[in-house]
This record gives sequence, C-alpha cells and structure tokens, in this order.
Amino acid sequence: MCGIVGFVGTEQAAPILLDGLERLEYRGYDSAGIAVLSEKNGLQVRKSKGRLKVLKALVDGGRTMDGVLGVGHTRWATHGEPNDINSHPHLSQDSHIAVVHNGIIENYMEIKEFLLSQGVEFRSETDTEVVAQLLAYYYRLSGDLMGSVYRVLHRIEGAYALGILCSDLPDAFIAARKDAPLLLGYGEGCNFIASDVTAVIKHTRDVSYMEDGEVAVVRADGIQVYNAMGQPVEKTHSFIDWDVSAAEKGGYEHFMFKEIMEQPEAVRKTISPRIKEGRICFEELKMTPEEIREIGKIFIVACGSSYHVGMVGKYNLERLLRRPVDIMLASEFRYADPLVDEDTLVIVISQSGETLDSMAALREARKLGARILSIVNVVGSSIARESDDVLYTWAGPEIAVATTKAYSTQLIVLDMLGMYFAEVLGTIDRGNYDAIVSELQALPYKMEEVLENKETIQYLASRYFNHDSVFYIGRNLDFALGLESSLKLKEISYVHSEAYASGELKHGTISLIEDGTLVVALGTYVPLFDKAMSNIVEVKARGADIVALTTDSKKEEMRKTVENVLTVPDTHIILEPSLGIIPMQLFAYYVALQRGCDIDKPRNLAKSVTVE
Ligand code: F6R
Repeated sequence: MCGIVGFVGTEQAAPILLDGLERLEYRGYDSAGIAVLSEKNGLQVRKSKGRLKVLKALVDGGRTMDGVLGVGHTRWATHGEPNDINSHPHLSQDSHIAVVHNGIIENYMEIKEFLLSQGVEFRSETDTEVVAQLLAYYYRLSGDLMGSVYRVLHRIEGAYALGILCSDLPDAFIAARKDAPLLLGYGEGCNFIASDVTAVIKHTRDVSYMEDGEVAVVRADGIQVYNAMGQPVEKTHSFIDWDVSAAEKGGYEHFMFKEIMEQPEAVRKTISPRIKEGRICFEELKMTPEEIREIGKIFIVACGSSYHVGMVGKYNLERLLRRPVDIMLASEFRYADPLVDEDTLVIVISQSGETLDSMAALREARKLGARILSIVNVVGSSIARESDDVLYTWAGPEIAVATTKAYSTQLIVLDMLGMYFAEVLGTIDRGNYDAIVSELQALPYKMEEVLENKETIQYLASRYFNHDSVFYIGRNLDFALGLESSLKLKEISYVHSEAYASGELKHGTISLIEDGTLVVALGTYVPLFDKAMSNIVEVKARGADIVALTTDSKKEEMRKTVENVLTVPDTHIILEPSLGIIPMQLFAYYVALQRGCDIDKPRNLAKSVTVE
C-alpha cells in the first residue's frame, strides 16, 4: 500500500526513481510523484493524479529534472481523494522539506490543529503533510535537522515508512520506519531506499531491512542507521538471489497470467528441498518434536486469499492431526478476545509479510502467549521477522495484485506442515503418508497438465463473461476452493460473485437462482461427489447455467448432468484444491480479459495492505 523509493548517487535521479516506482506501482496506483534536489534548481517536486505514465510524460521520463538525489512515491489513497494536490511528495510551507510516506499518521488531526494555530498553512487533505510541516516547524525553532526528525517521530502515532529531503542537506536524504516496510539498498557509488526489493534489484542485490524506530541518513558513499535513541546501528546485510527477470513480464500480456503459468515451477521449488528420502522435513523449523506434541490448539489467521488457504488448511490439518484447528480473519482476530494461550500455535499466512491486519493479529497472539509460526513469501518481511518460526514459500516476486502462485505455494507449505506434524504426532499411517508424499512430488507435473487445457477455459469465459452474478458452490475442500475462486473473479473482473457450501443453498441462497444464473459447481472432492451432484441438479432444475469442475475419474458421471465440464487430474484428496484452483484462476483471468479490465491493477486495490 503506497510504494516508496529513494536514490542518491552520481547519475540523474529522476529516471531511476521513475523506474523504481514502475516496479512498485502494484502497491498503489492512483497517483505518483517525485522530489529531486539539485544545486542549480533546489528542491523540485512533480506529482500527478493517475497512473505513473502520466507523471512520466509530465517530466519527460525524468529528463526535465536535474539532480542526483531524490525520493519518489506511488499512492493508494487513505486521507484525501486521489488528486494532484494530495499526491506525494508533500512540501513544508517554506518548500524546504519534501516528504514521501507509506502508512497512516493516526493523530494527524491533532497535530494539524496545533500547526494551524501556529499560522502554518496546509495545501492538502492528507495525513502525510503534517510530517513535512511539523518537521519544518521544529527545524525552524532549533536549526537541528536530525533532532527535529526525532522530535517528529516521537510526536506522530501510527505507521510509517518515510523518505525525507531537505534543501539544507544537499547530499543525503533521511529515511525512517515504524510498522511499514522499508529497506536500504547498497549500490556502488549510490544508495537506495525502497518499499520492496523489486525497486532496487536492477541496481543492487545487497540490502538490509530497517527495523521499527530506526532512522537512516542515506548518502552516495554510505548509509548510517540510528536506533530510536539516536545511537548508531550496524545493519545485517541480506543478498537477494533471484533474477531481475522474475519481476518482469517476460513477453506475457499480464503479470497475473505469467504468475499463473509459473505455478508448477513455484510449487516445485517449494516442495523439492523439503522432501528427503521420502520424508517431509522442514530444516528451518525451530520447533522440536516435543514442542509439537505439546501444542494444545492450532489457530490460523490471515486475510483475503491467504485466509482461503487457511480454510483449506483447517479441513486438511484437522483430518491429518485429529485435533481442533480454528481459523479467523486477521482483522477480526485482534478485537475478538480470541481463545488463545501459551498452548496455542498461531499460524499466520501472508504473501507480503506486511499486511497490517495480520501483523496486528500476530502481535495480539504473542501478547496472549501463543507461539507464532508464519508462512510468508517475502523474505525478511515484518511478519517473517516477528515470528518464532517462518516457513518461506519460495514463489518469487508476485507482482499482479490478485495472488495466484503465492496462494498455491502457501497451500503446499500448509499441507506439508500438516503432514510433518502428523508424523510427529503419530496420527497418520505409513501407507497414507507415502501416498501423499508421492502425490506431492507429482503435483507440479499435474499442474502443468491443467495449464495445457487453458483454451477450453478461455472458451467458457468467452461464453459467460457478460453474466452479472456468479455462484460458486462446493462441499468441504470444494467450498474452501470456491471462496478463493469467487474472490479471484470478483476482484479482477468486477463481476459480483458468491461462494456457498452447496448444502447451504437450500437455507436461503437458492432463491437467487433463476434462468441463466451462472453457477460454477465444484466437484473435485470425490468423497462427497454424489452429494455435490444432488445440489447441481437442484440449481439446474431452477434454470442455472452450470460450469462444473471435477476430476478425470468423475468427468463422465458429471457429463451426464452438465454440458460444460472442466477437469483436473486425480490426486490425493487433500491436494485436490491445488489443482482445482488453476482452472478457476484462468476462468477469472479470461473473464476479466473479455471485459477489458485492468487485470494486474484492479480498481481500488493494492498488493500490500498496510492500513487497517
Ligand atoms: C487477493 C489477494 C488478497 C491478499 C490479502 C492478504 O488476490 O491477493 O486478498 O491475499 O490482501 O495479503 P497477504 O497474503 O500479503 O497478507
């Protein structure tokens, strides 16, 4: 949610900032801006409502702004509508200080009122402007820039990643972080800040992650980091080993399509290193077998698609472990007074590792004494760093706002974790264990097989793309699969859709089924296939158009009732959602394509949701 980039070096800053922002645009895309400092022209700010390309045109790709030092921002609006004025960077009244910000300043109104009473005039409706104005106010009083930065950080409440330029500091910019991601990038003769590595990977793979309360002064020849007390800090560096091309479209029209196609490989990378001699092993797991045996209860918390992974996990973990698994939306967990204690293992699932609701749930769970295990894609992210154990999903960078390969790899890690625990607890027999491991190893190949059938899905999407409302129905794991399938469709195609446990239809929703209503019937959960069929017949009798999904072994049976049948290979029952999701992602993608939607950047959304 909002992307920040900062650069200082010997090359012209503006084109580098724009390039970095392009890679961060998935974090927010309602407006963008850059501030550059040069000896000749002082502090220059250009910003504009709309996509980054509008800003790029405004500054001729950055060529019209001189200076080798600057910060940039791409926005997902929180305070104030997306317009030119509310775009970042924000300037102090005297135009000596420029600020870019990701996060929310919760007490901005109180600070704004104070500054207004001191005669400060505001230009925007944003919370961020108070940071620029308050900093300029303290700086005017004291003449001490760093001291004033600390005063501001002590006064503001909320979450922030900040990039600050001051015309009195011609060779450096200042960065600060609390509860919003910010990393430092170390180049040769140049240095960076960024909300995530994709913005700097072209220039450097040597990064470190800022901690809450830290402040950095970034110069071309080095970065000095200070802790919340102003004492110098030595940072641990991390090396980013993935390729630049991983964050590029590579000839595909959309990142989402590329990421759908990358799933077999991503899943392979997630599975392979964790199966040794037919046994699942998590070398990175610190939890001992004794500690696993002591777990009284498992609680899964997550948001959106990651929550849907948790829904599959609830069914599978309870089946494998024969003990209760609770699941709650992270945004609810925090305020629900959840029944969590020292005996509880809380599993937090997050692609970005920065989702504020999930982070807040994690901290609440920790306060209640729970042990935290997270399943995260972004290495070094906040959720990963604050967990007792982290299992990375190795999906590589996911750029499209709608998640696909991260979902699939999360699902695999959770299934494998269930298997690992089940072996320790002795709740799985050898035959079943071996069968699942063997199917896990075959899964990437079966996923490739599903992807080969994309033309059939494209055809069905062209047939049904103009329906206004779609219902996804299924039982057990198919219900969990339906939740994610429905979210995929609605978020990128703007078609209203709902997911229902098939058995629930008759308790109300079936009243909405009429001639021509599109129902996507999920029938991959073979143990309840016959029950699923009964529900399909019920909606068919009420005039629904049906697209069904089932396994190869059940397709003939399904075809007796339904004309449009999509299939996936048979696998072990607990892994079936990993195959079933692929046609559903493709269906959503092709529907959105037919409807001319902006697939990688759906309206009102952003990739990393760092506000509550
Ligand atoms: C939907 C989607 C979102 C995320 C949710 C949680 O396609 O991507 O629903 O799953 O915002 O994000 P993470 O997993 O980063 O915590």
